Amino acid sequence: MVAIDRRSFLAGLTCAAAHRAFPSALSAAAFARAHDPLRPWYHLLPPHNWMNDPNGPIWWKGKYHLFYQLNPHAAVWGDMHWGHAVSTDMVHWDDQPIALAPTPGGADSEGCFSGSAVVFDGVPTFIYTGVQNAPRAQSTIRDGDNHLRETQLLATAEDDNLLHWKKRAEPVLATPPEGMDVTGFRDPCPWKEEDGWYLGVGSGERGKGGCVLLYRSQYLRHLEYLHKLAEGTPSGKEAANPVDSGEMWECPDFFPLAGPPGTSPHHVLLYSTEGKSLWTTGHYDTKAHRYTADPTGKAWPLDHGAYYAPTSFLAPEGRRILWGWIQETRPPAQYAAAGWAGAMSLPRVLSLDASGRLNLTPAKEVEALRSLALRAQIHAHSSFRHKLRHLRREIQIIADSPPSTLTVRLVVTGTEAWKLQFNGAAGTVTCSDLTFTAAGSVDRPPELRIFVDGSVIESFFNATDALTSRVYTVQPHATELIVELSGPGSAEVQSWPMRAISPDRMTG
Ligand code: FRU
Repeated sequence: MVAIDRRSFLAGLTCAAAHRAFPSALSAAAFARAHDPLRPWYHLLPPHNWMNDPNGPIWWKGKYHLFYQLNPHAAVWGDMHWGHAVSTDMVHWDDQPIALAPTPGGADSEGCFSGSAVVFDGVPTFIYTGVQNAPRAQSTIRDGDNHLRETQLLATAEDDNLLHWKKRAEPVLATPPEGMDVTGFRDPCPWKEEDGWYLGVGSGERGKGGCVLLYRSQYLRHLEYLHKLAEGTPSGKEAANPVDSGEMWECPDFFPLAGPPGTSPHHVLLYSTEGKSLWTTGHYDTKAHRYTADPTGKAWPLDHGAYYAPTSFLAPEGRRILWGWIQETRPPAQYAAAGWAGAMSLPRVLSLDASGRLNLTPAKEVEALRSLALRAQIHAHSSFRHKLRHLRREIQIIADSPPSTLTVRLVVTGTEAWKLQFNGAAGTVTCSDLTFTAAGSVDRPPELRIFVDGSVIESFFNATDALTSRVYTVQPHATELIVELSGPGSAEVQSWPMRAISPDRMTG
């Protein structure tokens, strides 16, 4: 496919000519998006405009449904609705009509924020955060001029395709717990236990740190506050938005996850704050409803890069699948002009290893997108080089011994666009100005999987670490992939072209 610059395309063509050039009746703007080399081919994103958090993933009547934060009017954050996509394999998606829109004068008049989907009494049910303008004293979001009140709302599905949703007019949670000066009150995550339903809500207290509030209910309608399920420590940082100082935790997710046979049962807590999505594992006492994080108490990143607000669900055969929002890292004016912003990560399967560490690997369904592989064996001080005709590839590198340095680069007409380097002696991975220690990587032959998809690069390292990068200088035909090994040993490189998930890149 030849790269077409969107601006020169739009400047040079009238809308009518665009229809002649591309007969499937795409508008000029859609035609430009379809030819935008930076727009992903096999990551889910809406046909146009802005997306952020995944919301309410659910398996229902033989289909995967994924909802997400959508601004249907522009490719910038604002006016949050719930977009909807449906799939039979978690990889190919059909775009669906908007599932939730703000109700004028209602508790979600200023936006339908993030939430979850559960099957309650046989009916798929959303529990989500509605946002409305409110006097300062009632507001739970106070940044600058905004005084917004967050409440937790319910909507039930009216059909098995999950197209129509009936909102319950009154919030199921109208205010945060009495006496608490919260930094936010949103993103409910429910789960069922033997004695009823439980609900975590993302929050925090000024000067104390972020937290997850825990509620209990028989019918998900009247909720009783119990206590904090988990809480952070004061960060000592000052920020206009408490999420930036770590005093507000967004998008909590809490679930049991079995480890290898013989290991004790664990629970996993996920939350997002300060631009990062974190996980802890620990023990959940189902009598006292208390969660104790494992002794290190350390929260680990689910991804070291442009990845935020993930949420998980249980696939029918028992896999715990995680979806996350891949953010833009270019200036807003650029993504607004491109007409699209944000993408969904590939589905990641969560598991626990023998040491209690969370592992994440791309779901095997993604492999169905591979076409014929290129294979090469590289040895010390040699390299694998491949000119990319298009920007949809998976690259897998498996070393047969711990190499001293393994480097993967994308070079665009002689200029380095992206570099990931594994330093075997230190066990570190470096990408741009970021360096992290990959879990258990010292003295272990590294395994890397790198998914290049337009401007998205999603990398997985030894199943323990992930790093999502955005690269806006790549161009098809002009981009070269280079894998280099220095030091002893050898590595096998495989590289697959990946099929697009939509014939016109409009996801459906
Ligand atoms: C996380 C988040 C959530 C909120 C939503 C609004 O990215 O800020 O806390 O519900 O996005 O779009």
